[in-house]
Amino acid sequence: MLMQPIIYQIYPKSFQDSNHDGIGDLKGIEQRLDYLKDLGVTMLWLNPIYKSPQVDNGYDVADYYQIDPSFGTLADFKALVAAAHERGLKIIMDFVMNHTSDEHPWFKEALKGADNPYHDYYLWQTAPSGQLPNNWASFFGGSVWEPVGHNEYYFHLFDKRMPDLNWHNRKVRQEMVKIAQYWLNLGVDGFRLDAFIHIVKADFKQNVITAKKGPQIAEEYYANLPLVQEYLEEFISELKQLKPDLFIIGEAASAEVSLGFDYTNPKRDLCDTVVTFRYFKEKPSPDLPALARQTLDLVHLKTELSKWQQGLGLGALPTLYWNNHDLPRVLSRFEVSSEAKEKLAKSLAVAMYLQRGIPCIYYGEELGLESLELKTVEAYQEKLELKQALAAGYSQNQIEAKLPLKYKMAARTPMPWDDTKVHQGFSDATPWLETKEKAPVTVTAQLHRADSCLSAYKQLLALKKTPLFTAGQEIILPSAEDLVVFERQLNNKRALVLANLSAKSQSFKGEFIPQTCVFKTGEYQVDKQEIRLAAYSSCVFINDEEEA
Ligand code: GLC
Ligand code: CA
Repeated sequence: MLMQPIIYQIYPKSFQDSNHDGIGDLKGIEQRLDYLKDLGVTMLWLNPIYKSPQVDNGYDVADYYQIDPSFGTLADFKALVAAAHERGLKIIMDFVMNHTSDEHPWFKEALKGADNPYHDYYLWQTAPSGQLPNNWASFFGGSVWEPVGHNEYYFHLFDKRMPDLNWHNRKVRQEMVKIAQYWLNLGVDGFRLDAFIHIVKADFKQNVITAKKGPQIAEEYYANLPLVQEYLEEFISELKQLKPDLFIIGEAASAEVSLGFDYTNPKRDLCDTVVTFRYFKEKPSPDLPALARQTLDLVHLKTELSKWQQGLGLGALPTLYWNNHDLPRVLSRFEVSSEAKEKLAKSLAVAMYLQRGIPCIYYGEELGLESLELKTVEAYQEKLELKQALAAGYSQNQIEAKLPLKYKMAARTPMPWDDTKVHQGFSDATPWLETKEKAPVTVTAQLHRADSCLSAYKQLLALKKTPLFTAGQEIILPSAEDLVVFERQLNNKRALVLANLSAKSQSFKGEFIPQTCVFKTGEYQVDKQEIRLAAYSSCVFINDEEEA
């Protein structure tokens, strides 16, 4: 049986501060392990905690062997791993393999010139004066090429302070294995591979063929190239020699299901599961693109999930998630009244996590936390087209209220623990990221309320761990746009799961409605073959075995 963890993603900066500096840290996480155990998750994924100048919140690593001092020490990390393991919780680290920080010693050496042994750790090109080596665009805006001196450029797919590594260089591949082995030897249980689909690039002479001027996103030349699989397999098989049961979740943002199959093929040493961003497509909006709420296309989501359920190799599982640190929080992607938010949050959890696959829950989601408005516009850390929005007639206040619907930093706000404490118990100092208002939800307010979002998550995760929901086959059924309906089947056991994600009541006619409702959020009625669900309600029916 494959390992089927329930993952909880911790954004360490925002989880719990323990030393009064307003920045979450490792000791803080350790203090909250009992909460996580009680929630029912089984594996923690920490966003990067390595030494970093924090240009991209830790994804710019300056030293892979050190903990960033803002998070604590190596001793704190060892203590955290031990304390997690004592509670049966596994820990996986974010593994940043596509690039380093420009402050990494390798890059500092590489800059010294072509004859430096580290020069070939990175990617370089020359171009005639006034030209760029090609027209590929960086994901963070502008060209992938940054000039250094004499017509020479280095390649960066993300920020210019994050130069890409040259994976064709065997030494780079060996260094990466060494780093991963180091952390495995310290007891970590696996990795989340950051941006691994980008480690191989095409011939730099190629251009995106277009009549448009300026740099262009060039996925065909820097994402999912076939050689990625070779390097990935080499990397993971080396690690498996040290830790045969390590768990690997790969970030495969643009991968569609056939690549998902390749990256998780159980016959090879590759990922256990991958996170695709293809589930989520936005509905068109009349707002300016920069300010538009990213309203989800739910038909698209159901279609994609269905493909991923069917298209992976035998035994391989899709990831199930609504949120992560790169997306606006899912509640902010729905237009929903503030009274109904908690209901919707519960229904969303049912719709996603009882499907076949590996849940990946983003901290605070279990409370129904949404993206929050940040105190300053600068805190969004993005290029915002404010001038354009002002010119289109939006007021400054209107614009600011819309920013959390779109930008990722608003999904990285401090965890709201306790409504009776200053800064909601996250820290007694001013948090590193300040919001205009307090989060309307906290752990203490929900812990002992039987119908809270937090309580629903706990019950749901307990149900998720039963054989029907881990091993059962899945069939997603056609239903109204914002109604999610699926069946799970294992031998004679059958479950029918329904989740209404809309503000109106919805009904579903089924051929087979199992007898017993084992879990519900909100209200429903059954009339023969028809189930009627109240707004934002969900329910799970299971048969008595002889019923089947
Ligand atoms: C991944 C991370 C994102 C980061 C990028 C560069 O996509 O999730 O937060 O900016 O990689 O490392
Ligand atoms: Ca701290």
